[in-house]
Amino acid sequence: MRAKRVLIVCLGNICRSPTAHAVLEHKARLHNVNIEIDSAGTSASHKGERPDNRSVKAASARGYQFNGLYSRPVADHDFDDFDLILAMDNDNLTELKRRCPPEHAHKLRLFLSFHPDYPALSEVPDPYYSGSKGFELVLDLIEHACDKLLVAPVLTDS
Ligand code: 4NP
Repeated sequence: MRAKRVLIVCLGNICRSPTAHAVLEHKARLHNVNIEIDSAGTSASHKGERPDNRSVKAASARGYQFNGLYSRPVADHDFDDFDLILAMDNDNLTELKRRCPPEHAHKLRLFLSFHPDYPALSEVPDPYYSGSKGFELVLDLIEHACDKLLVAPVLTDS
């Protein structure tokens, strides 16, 4: 079975989606789950930038690395290339739905649709203008959702 390909999407691709990318990669390795992961932004305004220092600091304190991650905007071919495209919030999901060819619409979901408290919790809040607590919340939400995602049939079924 070829590895499932997962694309994680937020607005700038410098805070939430690179964090989810790093956490999912770490946990997939730990649990021997063979998946390919990438992340992207609905906006190109931070294209080429490294993840936000506040995200790097919060994540590295929990043991996650951001190796080789640079912001890139979502590309049209991503809808073809990936099996699962996970949006951090409803604005990201709306933008993905607007761009996605109808035959790939089934690939689009909220990242927190895998969180144990979904749908009460459905969005990973944008931490860009928040203090350090916002970045810790991003990590808490992402860690829980990753644990569920890694055992979800959408990834484990052939
Ligand atoms: P992200 O956070 O979408 O989680 O990467 C943001 C990064 C940059 C901006 C907003 C959110 N910005 O307005 O520049």
